Amino acid sequence: MKSFRLISFCMASLCLAATSAFAQQTAMEVSQPEGWDDDLALAIPEDLNPDPNILEIELEAVIREMEIIPGKMTPVWTYNGVLPGPLIKAKVGDRVIVHFRNSLPESTSIHWHGLRVPNDQDGVPGFTMDPILSGSEFTYDFVMPDAGTYWYHPHVNSAAQVGWGLYGPLIVEDPNDPEEFGDDLVLVLSDMSLDEEGNMLPADIGGSFGDLFGREGGVLLVNGKVKPTLKVRKGKQQRWRVINAARTRYYTLRYRRSPLVMLGGDGGLAERTETVDEIKIVPSERVDFVFTPPDDPGTEGFLRWYPTDRGYGSTFNRFAEDMMGIVTVDEPAVTPVAIRQQLREIPPIDITGAVERDINLTIAFDRDDNVVMGINGIHHEHAMPIESRVGQTEVWTVRNDTDFAHPFHLHGYFFQVLDENRVPQWKDTVDIPVHSELKLAVRFDDRPGVWMYHCHILDHAEVGMMGHLRVSP
Ligand code: C2O
Ligand code: CU
Repeated sequence: MKSFRLISFCMASLCLAATSAFAQQTAMEVSQPEGWDDDLALAIPEDLNPDPNILEIELEAVIREMEIIPGKMTPVWTYNGVLPGPLIKAKVGDRVIVHFRNSLPESTSIHWHGLRVPNDQDGVPGFTMDPILSGSEFTYDFVMPDAGTYWYHPHVNSAAQVGWGLYGPLIVEDPNDPEEFGDDLVLVLSDMSLDEEGNMLPADIGGSFGDLFGREGGVLLVNGKVKPTLKVRKGKQQRWRVINAARTRYYTLRYRRSPLVMLGGDGGLAERTETVDEIKIVPSERVDFVFTPPDDPGTEGFLRWYPTDRGYGSTFNRFAEDMMGIVTVDEPAVTPVAIRQQLREIPPIDITGAVERDINLTIAFDRDDNVVMGINGIHHEHAMPIESRVGQTEVWTVRNDTDFAHPFHLHGYFFQVLDENRVPQWKDTVDIPVHSELKLAVRFDDRPGVWMYHCHILDHAEVGMMGHLRVSP
């Protein structure tokens, strides 16, 4: 027995020695295929400031004719003439100065979705600033406090303006992030409502039913393009930072059931990784994960959108759609690197003595049968603020008794979802499925002011499903 073991041990090590002669390279040793993300490239704004810790840029909201569907021109509402808006990228702790000019025919603003900025930088006209009128300028100036994947968009006539193209990605990098996560790929998902001539359909198309269901655009866009192509090499990992910038659409993403290693989302890394085979991402939410190309060299496939049940009729007669081509180049496969499991510590918010609040997401109909949404039955225009103060911890029970799911978003602060089955992480948006409730814990840090919370199906927010919160010093 003993000698047998010895022999098999020797054979095993011999075997190991033999294979290593032909061993694949690991993902760390090779780079992505040449021009891998060219088709998905995002515009990078010029940094006007020589200080390495300050990013100073110019953004202009302006309408540009663009070819979204082949051979047709569409007047797109853009930042700096590109769709999506330029990628704003900085390191944690950097100061960002944005000289913004509104060259649109109507008022607008920029809201920095998910960023813990001071209240006067939050970009909500009527509450934190004046609207930025057509032809006028405004300078934003703040520090990037937390690493993560974020985005920016208007907070004026937002269902329409976001639907017409006003959104852009914002990445705050942590220089200490492990290299093993792979090369960053920022994917801004959205959709657009166009007729066959490439014209935008009216923002209020479908009337009250459109408000109720929310308006999904028929044209699926990834980084502003219809079915762009990504090049990958089998086994060579990529870190995908996916942002749902659609005004209403939910996304379920899958690539041939290949395992996706979730890293986190809204507020940066989660406490630990979680391996899944599909990703669900609701409007305004972000998901970061590691994609390991699974196909043999020389094959082609598509990342697909799958119908997502978000309530009444939302999956009826709908089928999967191709979103982005994935071409596995004809180069030798590599061995993927192991991704660590523990990512960082997310200490639970201490909720002893927390103030409890009930937030009911409500839908009603007025006498003329128009849909009216609200929080606790009150349209946001008639609502009084929730009164709170700096340093206070609260637990919000967000309840949805309606027939539609609602992605619930809070400005200014991250919350934790109180649910043992979820990997702990910092969130600013969470789905509240049909006929369900979630408990969220939040602590108001030292940034007093009035902050919004609302459904991020922007059509719902527009008809009243929004409230505000006053955090007093
Ligand atoms: Cu994306 Cu009021 O927010
Ligand atoms: Cu909603």
